[in-house]
Amino acid sequence: MITLARTDRIERMKLIQRIGYHPTFERLYAKYGYPMMTRVMSGKLGGMEYLFLGPGYEEDPAMGVLLDEADEPNRYPIQFYHRLAVDEHLAGKDILEVSSGHGGGASYLMRTFKPKSYVGLDLNPAGVTFCRQRHNLPGMRFVQGDAQDLPFPDGSFDVVINLEASHSYPDFARFLAEVARVLRTGGRFLYADLRLRKEVDQWTADMQSCPLQTLSRRVVNPEIVRGYERNSQQRREQIDHYMRFLPRRLRSSAADFSGVEGGGNDLALQNGELSYQHWVMTKA
Ligand SMILES: C[S@@+](CC[C@H](N)C(=O)[O-])C[C@H]1O[C@@H](n2cnc3c(N)ncnc32)[C@H](O)[C@@H]1O
Repeated sequence: MITLARTDRIERMKLIQRIGYHPTFERLYAKYGYPMMTRVMSGKLGGMEYLFLGPGYEEDPAMGVLLDEADEPNRYPIQFYHRLAVDEHLAGKDILEVSSGHGGGASYLMRTFKPKSYVGLDLNPAGVTFCRQRHNLPGMRFVQGDAQDLPFPDGSFDVVINLEASHSYPDFARFLAEVARVLRTGGRFLYADLRLRKEVDQWTADMQSCPLQTLSRRVVNPEIVRGYERNSQQRREQIDHYMRFLPRRLRSSAADFSGVEGGGNDLALQNGELSYQHWVMTKA
């Protein structure tokens, strides 16, 4: 029995290493990892900016989104935000982004699509402080809060955006109910995230039973894999820079968890162990 349990544990660890993504790890990381990461990255050690915590994204043929020179280093993560928003006519609307991270997507969408207002909410207080200092645009603000308990009145927003974060929320169904509550009638939920193959049925059931109507749903594994490839060198440089005080082996595990070519998530997206999906929903 003891041997079996131990073998089980070893197999599970191997799987986590192979895949990179693990739900329990992601929840712990949301609580402790992101705040620590922001503190390390927000200037104390100087150096490179880390404005996007999500993956790169590229279509075939290449999207070729026109970018300012200053945005060019973040082309692939920007293209994911662009894809989510481009058909949604954000101009003049009130937008909420839940889990806005270090605010790179919020800043790009605000400058490019000119909504009336943009609120970025995140659980990570250090990330919110960083965003307030780094992204100073009229109509945009950042608040600390929990995706499962949104601190806004009913019907406050025309659009809610959520990109690669919901897998760390302990109560995903409650998050969806909160999105439906804060959206206005006719409002849009622009959503993308990943799940393990074995989680997909429950994920789908939660999406289909929430108080929102599905307008479209796409599996975007190839686009994310392409994004990982294109973004890989920059991501590895960032990891090497920020984690230079850690042993090489630990840095390579960090790469595995952070979406680089040949990393755990990359391989799992290619072999179907992970599913990355883009949904558009509306409040009828
Ligand atoms: C992978 S990052 C993605 C951030 C951003 N969407 C991007 O692409 O750069 C996930 C984010 O989710 C946030 N997060 C995790 N759990 C949360 C919760 N319960 N409520 C709000 N934000 C949460 C984390 O702090 C982190 O900023």
